[in-house]
Amino acid sequence: MIAIAKEIQTAAYLFASILFILSLGGLASQESAKRGVIFGIVGMIVAIMATVLGQRVEGHIYIIGAISIASLIGIIVARKVEMTSMPQLVAILHSFVGLAAVLVGFGSYLDSETQKLIGAAYTIHLVEVFIGIFIGAITFTGSIVAWGKLDGKIPSKPWAFSTLQIMNLTLLIACIVLGVFFCNAQGTGGMLPLLIMTAVASFIGVVLVMAIGGGDMPVVVSMLNSYSGWAASAAGFMLGNDLLIVTGALVGSSGAILSMHMCHAMNRSFFSVIFANATASSAQGVEKKAIEGEVTSLNHEEVASLLKEAKSVVIVPGYGMAVAKAQYPIFDMVQTLQKAGKKVRFAIHPVAGRLPGHMNVLLAEANVPYDIVMEMDEINPDLPETDVVMVIGANDVVNPSAQDDPGSSIYGMPVIEVWKAEKVIVMKRSMSAGYSGEDNPLFYKSNSEMLYGDARVSVEKLLSFIKE
Ligand code: TAP
Repeated sequence: MIAIAKEIQTAAYLFASILFILSLGGLASQESAKRGVIFGIVGMIVAIMATVLGQRVEGHIYIIGAISIASLIGIIVARKVEMTSMPQLVAILHSFVGLAAVLVGFGSYLDSETQKLIGAAYTIHLVEVFIGIFIGAITFTGSIVAWGKLDGKIPSKPWAFSTLQIMNLTLLIACIVLGVFFCNAQGTGGMLPLLIMTAVASFIGVVLVMAIGGGDMPVVVSMLNSYSGWAASAAGFMLGNDLLIVTGALVGSSGAILSMHMCHAMNRSFFSVIFANATASSAQGVEKKAIEGEVTSLNHEEVASLLKEAKSVVIVPGYGMAVAKAQYPIFDMVQTLQKAGKKVRFAIHPVAGRLPGHMNVLLAEANVPYDIVMEMDEINPDLPETDVVMVIGANDVVNPSAQDDPGSSIYGMPVIEVWKAEKVIVMKRSMSAGYSGEDNPLFYKSNSEMLYGDARVSVEKLLSFIKE
């Protein structure tokens, strides 16, 4: 009977693993994303049922009670959260995975069953516990700091001091030494080095994320996603749960691949981001360039007449479009301009907004056809021949300092070269900086005009003037 139950559980785990792989495959494109999410949900239900109903599990009533309460909280939070706050939610959820790995690690170390292991099996178990808690603690505190930075509760300016790398290396070596003490201790005598390592790893998590500037946060969020996967995988080893090992490895490796793609898109080195050295020369004391020029602005009527005269228009949306939920009136305006015979396209920067693909999702929501939505690399060569570029709620992704100011924290990041167009209209509420905290010399250029106001209100006003 026990053997049959084990076989059923193994089959269910295998089925859930396949569903998770199909889910990741589905998430690769917008058309199949919904199907991917459904595969993921079904896979997770199968996984939870197979685990809870499996052997060696007692106290079902408590487990069901905990799952019900947690599911209710999850549903309420997910329904309430705004699209613009999604990254914060993702970051805080990563912290839960890290915390779970730490708790599983301590539980597994103190478990009387594992104390009965001997020889190499016991040493391997201790190494699993130590590494699991190490990754878990870094993920836990790093994700909390990432949440704080994304939510504006912690300043996005990077921590930068010359001995940062030496300090990180020293802390890492200290953890390795503590690991040796831990593995050589008898019984539960390794508790002290384990606790000290947990504190040190928690501090490393804080330092790693505090040292990253606002512009590089997208990479950090996907790196933490990857760490949370490896933390789950380590917990799987400690619990002897194959599905957790597989699922953790899927999350860990897909997060690492996504981070590598993002680093490539942002012209950053993968390793310098992991080791908290992603900030550009500003961290190394290079002076910022002084901004020259004067800021000028237009009113809605003036911008509408510019648009009426233009033959080609490019729209660059950013985080402000998401905040203002301006995608719907923007698409109305695009259709009106297209009907008047103008060539209108969108230009999407890979890290515009606060989530990978944030702008694409919002534009798809407003039914904007994919064929007028261009990637940064596709649109940049066309900008010198463009009459009007409308920057709607974007800032960092159109900041020329990324190309010409080695003192800027976003120096080296590829940007949409909007200033090369004949006229640039920047639509935002004030002169305030973008997510990276860097001022934007674009606003001071002679071919650039500000159009102040909430993006949605402004686009609606423009639309009424264009239709006149
Ligand atoms: P930001 O640089 O953050 O600039 C957005 C601008 O929108 C702000 O300057 C703000 O100016 C304006 N804004 C806010 N609410 C508005 C409203 N209701 N109406 C009109 N404008 C509004 O955005 P971006 O250019 O999209 O760049 C994204 C930044 O976020 C990058 O630094 C990126 O690295 C970082 N980041 C991205 C991600 C991912 S994965 N995409 C994740 C984390 C961080 P006002 O206040 O003056 O209106």
